[in-house]
Amino acid sequence: MERALPFAVLISGRGSNMLALARAATEGRIAGRVATVISDQPGAAGLAEARRRGLATEVVEPARGADRATFGHALTTILERHGAELVVLAGFMRILDAGFVRHWQGRLLNIHPSLLPAHRGLHTHRRVLAAGDAQHGCTVHFVTEELDAGPAVIQGRLTVNPGDTVESLSARVQQLEHIIYPRAVGWFANGRLGWKDGAALLDGRPLAAAVIEDQQ
Ligand code: GRF
Repeated sequence: MERALPFAVLISGRGSNMLALARAATEGRIAGRVATVISDQPGAAGLAEARRRGLATEVVEPARGADRATFGHALTTILERHGAELVVLAGFMRILDAGFVRHWQGRLLNIHPSLLPAHRGLHTHRRVLAAGDAQHGCTVHFVTEELDAGPAVIQGRLTVNPGDTVESLSARVQQLEHIIYPRAVGWFANGRLGWKDGAALLDGRPLAAAVIEDQQ
């Protein structure tokens, strides 16, 4: 049987992307398995759901007054204990320190709810509507030290409709997230997606632009 790549999913909230990934793994759609689900929020809904599904879970809360690097070390210790070979950020609402990012460079993915490089940071749906953007979506990217700026791997793209609201956009973008994140993790798990000298590689070739998945 094909070896299943152990990956960790880091969450702070609902965990719908974590569930999409866990489902893809258990259904054999990706050659990976969830080694552990880690949250900085003990009450995260996604953590309870992960436990219900029998996944290993961990809570890592920053010690009072501790700096980011200490938190990053604690996280790495847990990740290594679970044998994680890929770290998948899925709604993890904490900025990771440069040492952590360097340690996991090329093995650290994030999903962001915009068509990066447009709308880095928070409140992307609101900002898309305020800007009158014709298109919106989500991006899976490798994490680098600059927030939401690492090389993009795959984007899900949709057309903004006249009646769209923050809520409708959020729901439509999430549907796309649940398609593109398992796809990216699947590529990594079977060795198609990699990292070299600061660039994302797909099938050994640098990705000049993210692969696009369009929603009609
Ligand atoms: C997603 O919209 C993702 O783009 C952003 O945080 C949200 C997490 O949602 N980074 P969920 O917890 O996976 O449901």
